[in-house]
Amino acid sequence: MKFPHDFLFGAASASYQIEGAWNEDGKGLTNWDVFSKIPGKTFEGTNGDVAIDHYHRYKEDIKLMAEMGLESYRFSVSWARILPTGDGEVNEKGLAFYNNVIDECLKYGIVPFVTLYHWDLPLSLEEDGGWTNKRTAEAFVKYAEICFQAFGDRVKHWITFNETVMFCGLGYLKGAHPPGIQNDEKKYFQATHYVFYAHAKAVEVYKKLNQYGEIGITHVFLPAYSVDEKQENIVAARHANEYETFWYYDPILKGQYPSYVVEQLEQKGWTPTWTEEELDTLKRNAGNNDFIGLNYYQPIRVEKNHQTALSVEHSRESSTLSPGNPSFDGFYKTVKMEDKTYTKWGWEISPKGFLDGLHMLKERYGDIKMYVTENGLGDEDPIIEGEIVDVPRIKYIEEHLKVIKLAIKEGIHLKGYYAWSAIDLLSWLNGYKKQYGFIYVDHQNQLSRKKKLSFHWYKNIIETRGEEL
Ligand code: BG6
Repeated sequence: MKFPHDFLFGAASASYQIEGAWNEDGKGLTNWDVFSKIPGKTFEGTNGDVAIDHYHRYKEDIKLMAEMGLESYRFSVSWARILPTGDGEVNEKGLAFYNNVIDECLKYGIVPFVTLYHWDLPLSLEEDGGWTNKRTAEAFVKYAEICFQAFGDRVKHWITFNETVMFCGLGYLKGAHPPGIQNDEKKYFQATHYVFYAHAKAVEVYKKLNQYGEIGITHVFLPAYSVDEKQENIVAARHANEYETFWYYDPILKGQYPSYVVEQLEQKGWTPTWTEEELDTLKRNAGNNDFIGLNYYQPIRVEKNHQTALSVEHSRESSTLSPGNPSFDGFYKTVKMEDKTYTKWGWEISPKGFLDGLHMLKERYGDIKMYVTENGLGDEDPIIEGEIVDVPRIKYIEEHLKVIKLAIKEGIHLKGYYAWSAIDLLSWLNGYKKQYGFIYVDHQNQLSRKKKLSFHWYKNIIETRGEEL
């Protein structure tokens, strides 16, 4: 079987991880421009000042993507290029840059899939409380509308936010992302609430513009499975799914928060401050989402945590999602299992975990359209006689595409696959060492680009619509 004709084969990136040009053409400062320069926060002090210089090389990069046969390219807009202070004057040069990127994609027939927020927040908003301040949510809605108005004639696929659990969790529980706060559950839940509210309002604005495109949100999908059949571990897995998955999709798709979590937050004093108007906005817009995006890398294997110490000191190393850590509330812990396979960075490789997770989502949310908005292997790619022979990446993507095909056969409504990443880029916490791309970037040689083995492999998959998978 071939993949359906309207299934999009794509690849993804994010502004801070590729663009560079951090202080050019009127761009305002972002939280990451500052945070990445705090000693110890990033791997070997890497930052996105230059990144892979996509800002100046987008034509070359998109040409390569076209050569690979990419049908769609998911990239994010840097809010501070458009609105340098978050909610003040518009920077025309910022609009011009993304107009150029979009037009360049369309020149080759590549469908632009735009993420509005992939973690780089204008600094002035961060300094005013970031996502714990409703001002940021209101500012986001204005920013989103500016983007819809400016690009919506050509962009028909919009993602509001990328992975709320990551930027809020790493920002307010682990301190590994800006604003670098640790163990503040109250702020964490508040921030997530304002993100969902901002999302719902932006969706509403988008629908009123009648641009006839589609809009949704992307979360990292970490389906939780119990390590065994023990009742307490099954309960731990349910707890993890409630907090890591349902908290994130319920307010979007059902228009209300999962009662399991809400009741516990009340007991613990972690309930966000929310108004009737905000809750009503969520409810009113639940039916307006056209799709959800899933960033799937790995499942989590969990067991009940019997240790009582709660407020632990976190570090960059303990925040990179490899198993072996207690959950933020101490209820469960993630476990590395003997019989599973892991990447060099300790992430489990489990296509089956994805398939099972997709069924879990279908059971809870029905027939919602889904895109795999990220999936890929972070690796140190072998270079043999000058060629980048990233065979493990090919294998990883192949195995995941196989289960996606199977999922479609089993009635899961999946409409596209975006490998992470189109090109090697900056990993927030792992620098340039952890590579994901189909295109190699040579940091020893003026950031020159080179096609990897996976580039040719993916090109063939797209050309044959995955028939042999
Ligand atoms: C996702 C993010 O969580 O994971 C990307 O959306 C990120 O921005 C990707 O790069 C891979 O993460 P890491 O830590 O392996 O670079």
